[in-house]
Amino acid sequence: MTMSQLLDYAAIFFLCVLTASSLDTFTAAVYEHAVILPNATLMPVSHEEALLLMNQNLDLLEEAITSASKQGAHIIVTPEDGIYGFNFNRESIYPYLEDIPDPQVNWIPCNNPDRFGRTPVQERLSCLAKDNSIYVVANIGDKKPCNASDPHCPPDGRYQYNTDVVFDSEGKLVARYHKQNLFLGEDQFNAPKEAEVMTFNTTFGKFGIFTCFDILFHDPAVTLVKDFHVDTILFPTAWMNVLPHLSAIEFHSAWAMGMGVNFLASNLHYPSKKMTGSGIYAPDSPRAFHYDMKTEKGKLLLSQLASHPHPTAVVNWTSYASGIEAPSMGNQEFKGIIFFDEFTFLELKGVTGNYTVCQKDLCCHLSYKMSEKRSDEVYVLGAFDGLHTVEGSYYLQICTLLKCKTMDLHTCGDSVETASTRFEMFSLSGTFEAQYVFPEVLLSGIQLAPGEFQVSSDGRLCSQKPLSGPILTVTLFGRLYEKDSAPNAFSDLMAQALRVTLIVVIPIVYSLGW
Ligand SMILES: *[C@@H]1O[C@H](CO)[C@@H](O)[C@H](O)[C@H]1NC(C)=O
Ligand SMILES: *[C@@H]1O[C@H](CO)[C@@H](O)[C@H](O)[C@H]1NC(C)=O
Ligand SMILES: *[C@@H]1O[C@H](CO)[C@@H](O)[C@H](O)[C@H]1NC(C)=O
Ligand SMILES: *[C@@H]1O[C@H](CO)[C@@H](O)[C@H](O)[C@H]1NC(C)=O
Ligand SMILES: *[C@@H]1O[C@H](CO)[C@@H](O)[C@H](O)[C@H]1NC(C)=O
Repeated sequence: MTMSQLLDYAAIFFLCVLTASSLDTFTAAVYEHAVILPNATLMPVSHEEALLLMNQNLDLLEEAITSASKQGAHIIVTPEDGIYGFNFNRESIYPYLEDIPDPQVNWIPCNNPDRFGRTPVQERLSCLAKDNSIYVVANIGDKKPCNASDPHCPPDGRYQYNTDVVFDSEGKLVARYHKQNLFLGEDQFNAPKEAEVMTFNTTFGKFGIFTCFDILFHDPAVTLVKDFHVDTILFPTAWMNVLPHLSAIEFHSAWAMGMGVNFLASNLHYPSKKMTGSGIYAPDSPRAFHYDMKTEKGKLLLSQLASHPHPTAVVNWTSYASGIEAPSMGNQEFKGIIFFDEFTFLELKGVTGNYTVCQKDLCCHLSYKMSEKRSDEVYVLGAFDGLHTVEGSYYLQICTLLKCKTMDLHTCGDSVETASTRFEMFSLSGTFEAQYVFPEVLLSGIQLAPGEFQVSSDGRLCSQKPLSGPILTVTLFGRLYEKDSAPNAFSDLMAQALRVTLIVVIPIVYSLGW
């Protein structure tokens, strides 16, 4: 063997070691699962009945996991509530729960199923991961007994948690995350006392995990990205779509872009509750997404992603808009409601134009050019700067271009799914105080527009080419986390008024989910 041959061998050997120890890219899978619900969710059933139902769902998840593995996926995400469904109370969820240990115990349930009591669901998930050599992400329920020595212990003597678990490709439990921001009516579960920041390392990047409604809040979601520098977020969800700004594929892809991370969103498939919309999102663009209100079928998505997505350029979200001289359009403005929040709107009158609309400290600026100004569709530019207080309390700053439902301006902000107006270009910006802004572009038929727009470092959301479909909305969805709690000076009278409002809206939102 010559020296150069030796070197070649060494190089090849070295390469192999390198590939084994770290991957530049990986294949991600998410499964939109058509969940089988229990027959009765308000009456407790036996452990055996509960397990029977969970195994029916696990049979379907097994098909998806096996298929994803055969297609080379390194990791698969399955939805929140994907194993036992939803609509439980504290007692009726109990037979579905298992004690889930801290991952530090270093446990492969598939190899050692009896180590922590009765845990058949964890055993099956672990074996699915191990037998298919794939990371499996699932959502199940955890129970932790407590007693009077703990002043917060619930009267029934246990904490119950909405819990994500991750098993690595050898079947080991590597992550357990208890959902922090429970949705309105999710009374069967407790929130942990402090937000859990759960991360784990792999040969294909660093991962963080959170669940559904968590995405609207700072902890743990923003902390995972900002302070723990994860590459990819795992996101099991049971998301009910709310147009114009909170449809699953729209908002989740916007979060990935706004935060500069990969985002793997797996939703339940339950069209009668408006649950559909899963995707694999990179920071620069969606890689795969699925939205289907027509069939009852589940759907497996796969796509390749960078293990360490390039850091996105720092955006100053107020830079461009704060330099715009705003012409006064005050006399043409009108108010309208989007998901219980009162926006200030301005109608787009021409085929092309520059408009500015302001609310409180936020001024939104839009330049646009339509292909034609249709006589049967109205678009508006809208601004909202305020605390949303319905299914949760969160401070929003939003600039939005949207199509009104009908020609009647009172319908601006109502849910609408189709449009016909094509845009040659748009550029949307705002004087945001919010540091975190999520850029949304949603086309007719609830479609995303991968590669058709970008965000510039001075805070403009701009089209890169004429859009491939008519626009439903182009939105900068800003979150000002610092202002989430209502000010102390809030009078009792206001609080009382709020409670009355809540009593009216809770039944509406309660039927929503998240
Ligand atoms: C629900 O009820 C139907 C009809 O009574 C039965 O066939 C099915 O097995 C039940 N499912 C579960 C999970 O108990
Ligand atoms: C109460 O719970 C603590 C820990 O949670 C445990 O150490 C203790 O033994 C329990 N006491 C009783 C009386 O069960
Ligand atoms: C992941 O790896 C990084 C550096 O390699 C290390 O600092 C960090 O503690 C690891 N995190 C976990 C959760 O293992
Ligand atoms: C963002 O831009 C504005 C306006 O140009 C400027 O006043 C501000 O200092 C910038 N913020 C940062 C963090 O650079
Ligand atoms: C909008 O503003 C841009 C630059 O600020 C200008 O080039 C364009 O002519 C304006 N369009 C209209 C319709 O006023």
